[in-house]
Amino acid sequence: MISAPLFSSLPATITWENDSLSILDQTRLPRETIIENVTTAEQVWRAIHELRVRGAPAIGVAAAYGLCVAMRASLHLPIHEFRAALAQQAAYIDSARPTAVNLSWSLKRMLQAAQACDANDSAALLNALIAEAVAVHAEDQALCDGIGEHGLPLITPGCGVLTHCNAGALATTGLGTATAPIYKAHGEGLTFRVYADETRPLLQGARLTAYELQQAGVDVTLITDSMAASIMAQELVDVVIVGTDRVAANGDFANKIGTLGLAIVARHFNIPFYVACPSSTLDLHTATGRDIVIEERHDDEITHLYGERVAPANMKVRNPAFDVTPNHLVTGFITERGIVQKPFDTNLAALFAMEGDAA
Ligand code: MRU
Repeated sequence: MISAPLFSSLPATITWENDSLSILDQTRLPRETIIENVTTAEQVWRAIHELRVRGAPAIGVAAAYGLCVAMRASLHLPIHEFRAALAQQAAYIDSARPTAVNLSWSLKRMLQAAQACDANDSAALLNALIAEAVAVHAEDQALCDGIGEHGLPLITPGCGVLTHCNAGALATTGLGTATAPIYKAHGEGLTFRVYADETRPLLQGARLTAYELQQAGVDVTLITDSMAASIMAQELVDVVIVGTDRVAANGDFANKIGTLGLAIVARHFNIPFYVACPSSTLDLHTATGRDIVIEERHDDEITHLYGERVAPANMKVRNPAFDVTPNHLVTGFITERGIVQKPFDTNLAALFAMEGDAA
């Protein structure tokens, strides 16, 4: 669980209270704290698609609860029609974003829970779904905690840690993934510095990572993405820790655009490069990074800044939200069960084969 003193003023990413789902609108942070009640499948889809709830683990938890609230509209249906509607709504929510495997992972898990439930009325089945969503939520917090424990030794007194995008508390419902070792080390009183890449184009690093680390009292310095190489050249970075949206069976992984460049530069300077990966983000059914679908987002995110056009009109634009980093640039995956070293294909499968098979 998130410890109160660390996050005294950080609002919860996702709240489930009295069978009602609320999400923190992350597009408005840090300027405004807006909590939004989500009651329909379309609202869930839009909240995920428009990044009001974002970060792979948080998307998974939101989808699980979102499916429950969406199914309320079908409670009047006989059980076989309710089950058919459930499959349809899960497919619809799953289409909100393609890259983070947590979305399809949690929805598959919800459908499996429904299959395993022999309830013959819709209300009883919905109760079973809610119980499963609550379990997904609780597990997410435990996964973050495990990553924090195993990643803690990577943070040494006086060291510099560089991270990209937001793989923090705001991207999960716990301590975050890449930030979990940071929060644990900070909680133990260690002195160290964090560099947060601002993360173009949507500035998750500047708006979210810098914000949450500052709220927690961590020594954090915000840099632009293009400063990372220079900061490393000045020997200010001892370890890079990033999150991920999907890790393929061979250890290639997708994360926020810019991660690949960071991994190449870290290799150049011989800086260890770690990926914080909860088992919910491991996709043993995807063989390599080439098989990962990369989300391409709207041109406006590049051509406009805060609603103002900054690029010429009719400009050709590419806007992939993620890139794929090949396994050979990764030092290790920090998972809730320990740090996985090379060879990743055999070592990831050995540690997580059962979860992969169930997915
Ligand atoms: O587009 P976003 O903000 O959802 O991208 C988030 C990231 O790339 C994170 O690094 C990743 O989801 C890991 S979150 C623990």
